[in-house]
Amino acid sequence: MKGITASAPGKVILFGEHAVVYGRPALAAPVFSVQATAYVEEALPNSGLLIHAADLDLNLSLADAVTHGPALAAQLALEHLGTPEPDVQITIRSTIPIAGGMGSGAAVSAALIRALCTYLGHSIGDEALSALVYEVEKFYHGMPSGIDNTVICYGRPVYYIKGREPQFLLVKHPFDLLIGDTGVATPTRITVGAVREAWQRAPQTYEALFDAIGAVVEKAQAAIERGEVALLGPLMNENHALLRELGVSSPELEQLVKVARTAGAAGAKLSGGGGGGNMIALVDPANVERVGHALRKAGAVRVLHTLIR
Ligand code: PMV
Repeated sequence: MKGITASAPGKVILFGEHAVVYGRPALAAPVFSVQATAYVEEALPNSGLLIHAADLDLNLSLADAVTHGPALAAQLALEHLGTPEPDVQITIRSTIPIAGGMGSGAAVSAALIRALCTYLGHSIGDEALSALVYEVEKFYHGMPSGIDNTVICYGRPVYYIKGREPQFLLVKHPFDLLIGDTGVATPTRITVGAVREAWQRAPQTYEALFDAIGAVVEKAQAAIERGEVALLGPLMNENHALLRELGVSSPELEQLVKVARTAGAAGAKLSGGGGGGNMIALVDPANVERVGHALRKAGAVRVLHTLIR
């Protein structure tokens, strides 16, 4: 049987991370310059389903579904199709930084499920795919909002509220972002857990911060849909200040955010879980080079350039 490849993009949260876990809206966009891919091919008879995570040099089978996301993703795909375990070899690769807030886990799950379903003769729709990837995300994060699987599976910018149908974001004027990686890998569940503890200790303070973030998100959505890109930089700065108050920034993130603004970015903020991971900066195309250079000089281990459209 012919081998099948499927891929899924990385993502950035533009506005609203953390508050989205508490029912406020958030905006996110796919990043196609980094990808997870899965290749499914026939394996020897009676070998069962084997997964090779090429970048990690890790081999998994369905028995690993209780401990490893990709094996769980494969198991959920087979349950979804009602198909017995096939003899296949699945090779997964990813250029998405791990634990950097770019959705690497969700993208690997999405690529794997899509490739396996296609190989077995069923094309899976975005909605069903997103629901399965969400189940795997729960395994990674405990209580994810669902924004990562949504933006990655649909592959379009979204306005997202937990538990509701995703709304797609219409980007009137595309805009350039730089994504700067602090190089500090911080699993999302750590910062999400810290915010939860702080919220339990001081619910009123945190609810007020989530409301303030929600208000920024609404303004950002309107600005993006009207093509008022000039409004987005100050809104990013405002969102970052609120995230700092939530306690999810870090010295490395602060440094990159400051350097980006000084070098001419229109605005900058941490993106994703925080505590490390990535920050984003809104840049005029003419400033991409300069801000990118400044970020690298200030310690960013990777700087990606992406156009949000
Ligand atoms: O996966 P990350 O690190 O981009 O974080 C996702 C955004 C959070 O709001 C922090 C968590 C969530 O489940 O929405």
